[in-house]
Amino acid sequence: MKNQEAKFKKLKELEDKKIELSSVWNFGKRGKGFGSHIFHGNCIPQVVEQCILRYSKMGDVILDSMAGSGTTLDVAKNLNRKCLAFDINPTRREIRKADSEHLPLKDNSISMIFIHLPYWNMVKYSDEKEDLSRKNLKEFFEKLERIFLELRRILKKEGHICVLVGDKIKDGRNIPLCFETYNLMSKYFTYQDYAVKITINSNSVINRGRVILAELAWNNLLKPTHDLLFVFRKN
Ligand SMILES: C[S@@+](CC[C@H](N)C(=O)[O-])C[C@H]1O[C@@H](n2cnc3c(N)ncnc32)[C@H](O)[C@@H]1O
Repeated sequence: MKNQEAKFKKLKELEDKKIELSSVWNFGKRGKGFGSHIFHGNCIPQVVEQCILRYSKMGDVILDSMAGSGTTLDVAKNLNRKCLAFDINPTRREIRKADSEHLPLKDNSISMIFIHLPYWNMVKYSDEKEDLSRKNLKEFFEKLERIFLELRRILKKEGHICVLVGDKIKDGRNIPLCFETYNLMSKYFTYQDYAVKITINSNSVINRGRVILAELAWNNLLKPTHDLLFVFRKN
């Protein structure tokens, strides 16, 4: 009975912090004031917020090594966590330039990692040779594997790594980036959970909606309307 009380107390804690209890995340519009909505390939802050609230505590050090417009930086600050941010092509002063495969961080020094991957070459982020979005598909996955190895090195034992990724349609084929990412992460971390994040229409879909739908119909493919958020931990 006492055990049951502890479980209800934990549930109440999650509810009080407004932590999502289900695996389907549908946040609607992007929250304002975190990162930039005009950065091509930004993620909505609500996803980062959910990860930070559930998988870290106040004072923890969080890492985003593909920081883009700095959404994780801003959300972490708002939740009283310290955040270290890197990117191969930094957009802000607080984001340091680094390749995620070689981070200037000590072993076992980070409590939680959040990264939002390039969906292969859907957006070309820079002209840097080591930019994932510049690689061919084989090289993309090879590099991603080396990045997970590096992230494992710096994550503390029992720390969590949250990875947001979506699939890409190319030449009438669905490239299963999510499943491949899951397979690679499984080699270096212990699987814990995943959530389906419903995507609202990007600008390109709004502008070219019918053209995109017709292309998908022609190839007998579904229109992707979700990303996946994988949660693994280091044992
Ligand atoms: C999907 S965006 C991240 C967007 C970010 N979550 C936001 O809300 O603004 C992916 C980022 O990964 C970065 N990137 C690509 N290859 C990288 C690498 N090898 N090391 C570090 N960053 C990389 C890109 O420059 C880009 O900013």
